[in-house]
Amino acid sequence: MALYVIGDLHLSLESDKPMDAFGQGWDDYVNRIKAGFEKLTPDDVCVLCGDLSWASSLKTSVSDFRFISNLPGKKIALKGNHDHWWSTIAKMDAFFALHDLSGIQILSNNCFYYGDMAICGSRGWTIENKADAARNDMMVRREANRLNLSLEAAGDATEKLCFLHYPPIFRGLRCRELIDVMLAHGVRRCWYGHIHGYGHNYAVQGCVDGIDYRMISADYINFTPQKICD
Ligand SMILES: [Fe+2]
Ligand SMILES: [Fe+2]
Repeated sequence: MALYVIGDLHLSLESDKPMDAFGQGWDDYVNRIKAGFEKLTPDDVCVLCGDLSWASSLKTSVSDFRFISNLPGKKIALKGNHDHWWSTIAKMDAFFALHDLSGIQILSNNCFYYGDMAICGSRGWTIENKADAARNDMMVRREANRLNLSLEAAGDATEKLCFLHYPPIFRGLRCRELIDVMLAHGVRRCWYGHIHGYGHNYAVQGCVDGIDYRMISADYINFTPQKICD
């Protein structure tokens, strides 16, 4: 049994979404995801760090979630900025139950345990676009609150692992509010996605102010889930 992570599968099995905008390297990506998951067993757990499906509603996402469900391992999914199918927890759980997609669980204001460790996280928020400062401030506060709820739910876990969609640190910018929430809860390791193409050159990999950051967008890790621990 092992814990894995990958972000940004960007599935589009019920429509034809060109991936050129994300740069080179997305050729045959669905089969590459399938190959990347081959090393997982049914007992393994894989955190999916957002941007799972281009579908605009749950109704049009069935094929994408069927594909995800059929990949080996249990999946824990959090929201990315392109997950427009996202709905209330009750509606998503009902959708998964209706379509027999029981291997997928949603990480939102809650946490899951992996042994004595806790799997916590939230979408986060962009730190690059400051066009609407008031809205940005509101979204950051909301996401900081969600992340805090998730980490609080972890209680006295031996380690609180943090998973985000947006990078909390990028190109010299920091999302101070989210980082402060992580530090307040003693988070030492954080995984994030969202960054594609040329942005890979700026991804922070390594320890900054006591937190070890790892970028795990699918195209950055050759569509292969990264093992966190056994
Ligand atoms: Fe993405
Ligand atoms: Fe994204």
